[in-house]
Amino acid sequence: VEPLADMGDAEDFTAREIDDQPAAAARLVDSLSERLAGGLLLRELGVPARTRLRLVACGSSSYAAHVTAAVLGSVARIPAHVVVASEPPPPVEDPDVLTVAFSQSGETADVLTALEHWTDPVLAVTNNPRSTLARRADSVLDLACGPERGVAATKSFTNQVLAGAALAVALAAALGRLSTEDVAGFEAQLRAAPEHMAATHRLAAPPADRLARDLADEPAFIYVSRGAGVPYALEGALKLKELAYRWVEALPAGELKHGPLALIQEGTPVIAVQARPHDRLAVNAREMTTRGARLITVGPGEDADLPVKAPAVEPPWGPLESVVALQHFARGLTRLLGYDVDRPRNLAKSVTVE
Ligand code: M6R
Repeated sequence: VEPLADMGDAEDFTAREIDDQPAAAARLVDSLSERLAGGLLLRELGVPARTRLRLVACGSSSYAAHVTAAVLGSVARIPAHVVVASEPPPPVEDPDVLTVAFSQSGETADVLTALEHWTDPVLAVTNNPRSTLARRADSVLDLACGPERGVAATKSFTNQVLAGAALAVALAAALGRLSTEDVAGFEAQLRAAPEHMAATHRLAAPPADRLARDLADEPAFIYVSRGAGVPYALEGALKLKELAYRWVEALPAGELKHGPLALIQEGTPVIAVQARPHDRLAVNAREMTTRGARLITVGPGEDADLPVKAPAVEPPWGPLESVVALQHFARGLTRLLGYDVDRPRNLAKSVTVE
């Protein structure tokens, strides 16, 4: 077992890594944002400007891949699909495809094995440029988070989202699908993201701890969102499962009425991650509260139970800052229950077996 060292003043590595997210994000965004115009980033990395993308990943990295797929669609009009690396589909030859493998460690066996299925060029988005994945890939986008020791992905997830968004903008620029002004607009949104994460960190930590005390006896939760918020609801739910050992059903809110609504009883805690527009989520929230759910909102505004500092205009990668609030909640509940925040049972930081 790797010794726990270098934790600074923090109580655990996970706390330190949650805290480090805005700085890690700022380092990444600074290094990428001026290289987006005209496809410069792609040329420097040696990435071909392909028109279809296959995004391969596991766990938290797969949720960052889902955000990237959505940005590729909306900003670059590039179809992208996410492959859960442990279940690669049968290979189909397609000369226009670029495979992008997202892996913090670069050592996840399922990701490495999945890559054996295809012959197209591979871009690795990883926090370890010396990893097996980085050596296997044709080009590497370094997440530059610094070491992440907690088993739960925190700063690597937020940096994966920003790296994926920057990649989408760079591809769109290289394919001539964005004007210079549009690229500059996205650059400004990327540059603003670390400050929104830092402000959310300050805003959400105290209510997240209070909420954890309030919900400490709850055995099960439902996490929902709509649109661009869905991957963040899934990621927040994964934090609660792996750290606090709580059962969580996490899904797009529109799916509730197709089955999971039956799970709701008096007091069932439902965590709803707001993404713009809010109206459709509000309809689903009413469906749940009229059946007795205890609704916990994550979003901007003073009424939110877990408040976030959101930008005035939601970027194409959606409410990234909401995940900071959900990390605080999961860590707070885990500590309250007396579990090891950095080393949850049954799990390893790098999953090197299939
Ligand atoms: O190193 P990787 O990004 O490839 O790891 C993938 C997953 O094992 C990882 O994200 C896992 O889901 C995290 N423990 C979640 O917090």
